[in-house]
Amino acid sequence: MTDQSNLRCKAFADKIMSAEEAAAFIPAGSNVGMSGFTGSGYPKAVPAALVARMSEAKAQGERFAVSVWTGASTAPELDGALAEVEGIDLRMPYQSDPVSRAKINAGLMEYMDIHLSHVAQMVWEGFFGHMDVAVIEVAGITADGELIPSTSVGNNKTWIDQADKIILEVNSAQPIELEGMHDIYYGTALPPDRLPLQITDPMDRIGVPYLHCPPEKIIAVVPTNSPDRNSPFKPPDADSKQIAAHVLDFLTHEVRKGRLPASLLPLQSGVGNIANAVLMGLGEGPFKGLTSYTEVIQDGMLELLRNGTVSKVSATAFSLSADGLAELNKNIADYRKQIILRPQEISNHPEVIRRLGCLAMNGMIEADIYGNVNSTHLMGSSIVNGIGGSGDFARNAFISMFLSPSTAKGGAISCIVPMASHVDHTEHDTHVIVTEQGLADLRGLPPRRRAQQIIDHCAHPDYQAALQDYLDRATASSGKHTPHLLGEALSWHARYLKEGSMLPA
Ligand code: COA
Repeated sequence: MTDQSNLRCKAFADKIMSAEEAAAFIPAGSNVGMSGFTGSGYPKAVPAALVARMSEAKAQGERFAVSVWTGASTAPELDGALAEVEGIDLRMPYQSDPVSRAKINAGLMEYMDIHLSHVAQMVWEGFFGHMDVAVIEVAGITADGELIPSTSVGNNKTWIDQADKIILEVNSAQPIELEGMHDIYYGTALPPDRLPLQITDPMDRIGVPYLHCPPEKIIAVVPTNSPDRNSPFKPPDADSKQIAAHVLDFLTHEVRKGRLPASLLPLQSGVGNIANAVLMGLGEGPFKGLTSYTEVIQDGMLELLRNGTVSKVSATAFSLSADGLAELNKNIADYRKQIILRPQEISNHPEVIRRLGCLAMNGMIEADIYGNVNSTHLMGSSIVNGIGGSGDFARNAFISMFLSPSTAKGGAISCIVPMASHVDHTEHDTHVIVTEQGLADLRGLPPRRRAQQIIDHCAHPDYQAALQDYLDRATASSGKHTPHLLGEALSWHARYLKEGSMLPA
């Protein structure tokens, strides 16, 4: 019988140690790579042991902080716990933790929010300095010393390549049946040595199922047995269902027009409740045998795989609720035939996204009347999460859609505003905007016609007249290409900050 245990490699026996012993290898001030992407595959034990060291240092009046680089967001026991003790100098490239968000917005922690496909090359180029240690969760180690990746791949291949020393957490709570699901590409290079990526279908494999790590780099192997973060999703509410219905009608229309094949093109679906709700809505539509080339696999995508709406998915990570995880574990042998997890510079690669013609669906904070989209900042200044992979997909998708309820905070905020208070995606990368009110198809439209579409189809009725009035007065009194009233363009945000509502008095 073949050995199916998590830790099959006898050569690492003398490197097995506790999280506390392993954390002692991480010096203050170092650059630490950690695995983890949207709450999956992050180290579970070493960060807590590091936090204990940081707290001890703090009690003695010393500062102990490190820079933390990951794939994307992690979990309270990593991002939250390190941020709580102010143990992070610079965090990159994406977070979604409430404690770390508060520290960043209070100016107590530096954060760099980067297109997720750019991170690996920026680290190779040395922009963030040298990576001293990487702490990587794996699902297992084979008898030959190959690393079986966990529930996310993210930047792990790059971290293992770049770090001087590697600490492995071998998590026996992760299903060992993940073995074989991953595709780790070892052909990446900096220009001018880059070669075309031979992916013409989401299920094309161009790499190997394992992460390679020179054994001499591995300084510690820490056995763990803890589940991923597994945050619950909000059940789809009336607005999300309405947004999903508009997306479904639009896709059906595009098929009827002959602009999309009956099985559509590979779907990309972003993070968050709205994106998850749209996926669930797709499952109730007429489509079958769809494909997906995306970044994360949320519960909604598993549901689509289960009911046959989607037949194959490429991503870099799972991001599941506890129920979603139970479903994955129960039917993992089937899912392994339908799912590939890749490094994030491949799951989000512009070349592949453009070639496959992905249909991108991402959440947003707000859009302005011309289609500039803010995905990251509240009232222009306070970070929420980060751009994540939304820019990788929006810029290169065949159709780039942004989705949001038309209002937030009980109607006190309009998500359609005269001018976006921060821009992550310019009007040029926004093809379609969808709110529960309707869908604005902006393709082929110059700025003023785009504005009219967005006001007519996406704005909430409470804000429609004020937006129309803004557009009319701007058109009457300023440059006619993209009319704005500069003294008023951000007055809606200023009014909210002063009066607690964007609604006109
Ligand atoms: N002003 C202030 N707050 C706003 C807002 C606005 N214009 N729009 C939304 N919000 C708030 C909501 O009220 C909600 O807050 P709450 O949890 O306190 O109620 C929160 O933002 C999330 O809104 P929700 O409508 O539930 O959307 P979501 O869960 O789909 O998340 C984003 C929306 C934009 C935060 C999320 O999609 C994101 O982080 N995107 C950037 C990264 C990304 O797109 N990655 C995908 C790449 S594959």
